[in-house]
Amino acid sequence: VTGAQATLVVSSAVAAPDGFERPVTVVNGFTPAPLIKANTGDLLQINVVNNLTDPSMFRGTSIHWHGMYQHTTNWADGAAGVNQCPISPGESFLYQFSTAGQAGTYWYHSHYRTQYCDGLRGPLVIYDPNDPAAGMYDIDDENTIITLSDWYHLQSPSITGVAANDATLINGQGRYPGGPQVDLAVLNVVQGKRYRFRIISMSCDPNYIFSIDGHELTIIEADGQNTRPYTVDSIQILAGQRYSVVLDANQPVDNYWIRALPNSGNYDLATGFFQGTNSAILRYFGAPMTVDPTSIAPANPVVFDETLLHPLDNSPVPGEPYPGGADVNINLALDFDMEAWRFYINGVTFQPPTIPVLLQILSGVQAAQSLLPEGSVYSLPRNASIEISIPGGVISSPHPFHLHGHAFSVVKSAGIDTPYNYVNPVRRDVVNTGDVGSNTTIRFRTDNAGPWILHCHIDWHLDLGLAIILAEDTPDVSRANPAPSSWDNLCPAFSSQPPSA
Ligand code: C2O
Repeated sequence: VTGAQATLVVSSAVAAPDGFERPVTVVNGFTPAPLIKANTGDLLQINVVNNLTDPSMFRGTSIHWHGMYQHTTNWADGAAGVNQCPISPGESFLYQFSTAGQAGTYWYHSHYRTQYCDGLRGPLVIYDPNDPAAGMYDIDDENTIITLSDWYHLQSPSITGVAANDATLINGQGRYPGGPQVDLAVLNVVQGKRYRFRIISMSCDPNYIFSIDGHELTIIEADGQNTRPYTVDSIQILAGQRYSVVLDANQPVDNYWIRALPNSGNYDLATGFFQGTNSAILRYFGAPMTVDPTSIAPANPVVFDETLLHPLDNSPVPGEPYPGGADVNINLALDFDMEAWRFYINGVTFQPPTIPVLLQILSGVQAAQSLLPEGSVYSLPRNASIEISIPGGVISSPHPFHLHGHAFSVVKSAGIDTPYNYVNPVRRDVVNTGDVGSNTTIRFRTDNAGPWILHCHIDWHLDLGLAIILAEDTPDVSRANPAPSSWDNLCPAFSSQPPSA
């Protein structure tokens, strides 16, 4: 799907990406959903048609354009219960937003319950014709996108809590332990050329250690932010995160394993490399097409360290380059209640309200304590520096925290005793919040009126309440975000939604 206008038809299908047949949710017939590409500055107009029919699956839908700031278009941000009512079966909705000031690697996915785990997830790339890193690579096209997805043999409405994934799909293809030797994804390269690979984790749960045998990876972008070149052998990539890396095809003509080892999964999935699970193939032009690679992973890989990632443009971010300088400090306490089987932030578990938070604000509710869900909404003043600190270690960590409507500066990365960096911290939109004893701190500026969700990007955890809403500059929301009447029309239909399983 190219350019400013597109139609995405969401429908029910049956597919077997890893050789195991199951009901899936597809876009224009495909999972992963088709690539959407545009240039920076384009106005995107994307009509989403809900043709879902399978009663065993979620049948409402809504789509989030992950990483897009949605400046003046909060209503198009796509989080059901926050920015819109879900689109009912048989209905459609036109999302309209600008890509001004943004370029890089993004993705889009359902933001209704755990629907993206059933297949409604795809890549979104915003190209910059004046990319400052353009001299570092020769090829950057739709053939160099690498999506990582966890895949389940159960459909998500029948999963209570968290399930163990059965396979890792790379560009929609993969094998599960003990399953058939289905074809793996192949990335073709020509010796002597340099490639910009765009790696997107569309995971619902595991993080991956990503590597390509025999090749170094030079990171030049994290979550849509250009970074100073930083060379590693492997990258840990959490759910929702993206990286652009430059790969120099400077090795002997051959086949090489591309590996994405998950930190959780069924059988030996997480630890094993059993008959090509968790893998795809990097194939040099001229290498045999019929054999699996025999390459081996580096024994002592140069491991990725987020504190060594810095923005390419080192100019200080207003209000950020000093400790203690934030206008608002928010400390989050995370908890999991075994009896309720839900996550809590500062004592409250998040449940998306029937009336979306944006609609509540547009209807005149202003104070955080009057906005539903009660206790999950935090008001932020306009044009202020906000610091949020998130502890690590609560059950099933590390949790990738994602903020809508902004990129943020990671002024303290996960880990024990990691230093604060207020000078040149990496900016991104999903951050690893680490394990026990860890603290992660982010900063951003409130320049984007509207309610934005901040949540764990493990989709099972979001559905179990691991989220809050930041209501930014509430008094200015209605002036700043004029919503079309088609948006209002989504809400009366809410009661026709089938009960979510
Ligand atoms: Cu990628 Cu709230 O989502």
